[in-house]
Amino acid sequence: MKTIAILSQKGGAGKTTLAINLAVAAEHFKKKSAIIDIDGQASATSWGDIRTAESPVIVSAQPSRLENVLTAAQENGADFVFIDTAPHSESAALAAARLADLVLIPCRPAILDLRAISNTIDIVKLAKCRAAVVLTCVPPRGSLTIQAEKAVASYDIEISPIHIGQRASFIHSLTSGQAVLEYEPNGKAMEEIIKLYKWIVKQVK
Ligand SMILES: Nc1ncnc2c1ncn2[C@@H]1O[C@H](COP(=O)(O)OP(=O)(O)OP(=O)(O)O)[C@@H](O)[C@H]1O
Ligand SMILES: [Mg+2]
Repeated sequence: MKTIAILSQKGGAGKTTLAINLAVAAEHFKKKSAIIDIDGQASATSWGDIRTAESPVIVSAQPSRLENVLTAAQENGADFVFIDTAPHSESAALAAARLADLVLIPCRPAILDLRAISNTIDIVKLAKCRAAVVLTCVPPRGSLTIQAEKAVASYDIEISPIHIGQRASFIHSLTSGQAVLEYEPNGKAMEEIIKLYKWIVKQVK
């Protein structure tokens, strides 16, 4: 089993969106996946409540129960677990990072977001875990992405070569309890998620 923790101390960076879409992508490739939602806001769990499909399994848990829930997921044959975490919760983020094979740090290509990732980077350095920044909500045109890549490079942390665009289907799909690959099969958002999923699979092999 591979554990991917999605961390960002900044609110609204795209953690839940990535956790949900990557878990559904794993199921699409016939891998058994689960989302462990350790965010008290329970956004991923609420998405699961309005979802009709049985998979992925979504477990809402206290951060202190994370290790036990991961053991249960492994015993139940999960191939991939995606941990969705809360913003502004350093101890929970550190616990998730310590248990993860890979940490993803979603970040919008905007100055305040790029400054704010330093807190999250400190946490992954403390946990001594493998981590990569994933640029999210990237606009289709303009120099913002290049500037953001340069800003991330100054932090001495890996950056995913796959960026996730700013696309309405990420918002609409969540509202209907779906992932982008169900809401708009063959759409651009789905393509990006599949590419990111495949990149992650290579990283944790
Ligand atoms: N790639 C994207 N394109 C368009 N909208 C997006 C994208 N990613 C996320 N969003 C939207 O941005 C908002 C915040 O995303 P999300 O809830 O995934 O962030 P989060 O990091 O989990 O937030 P929190 O810190 O509150 O848990 C949501 O309304 C979501 O639909
Ligand atoms: Mg969230």
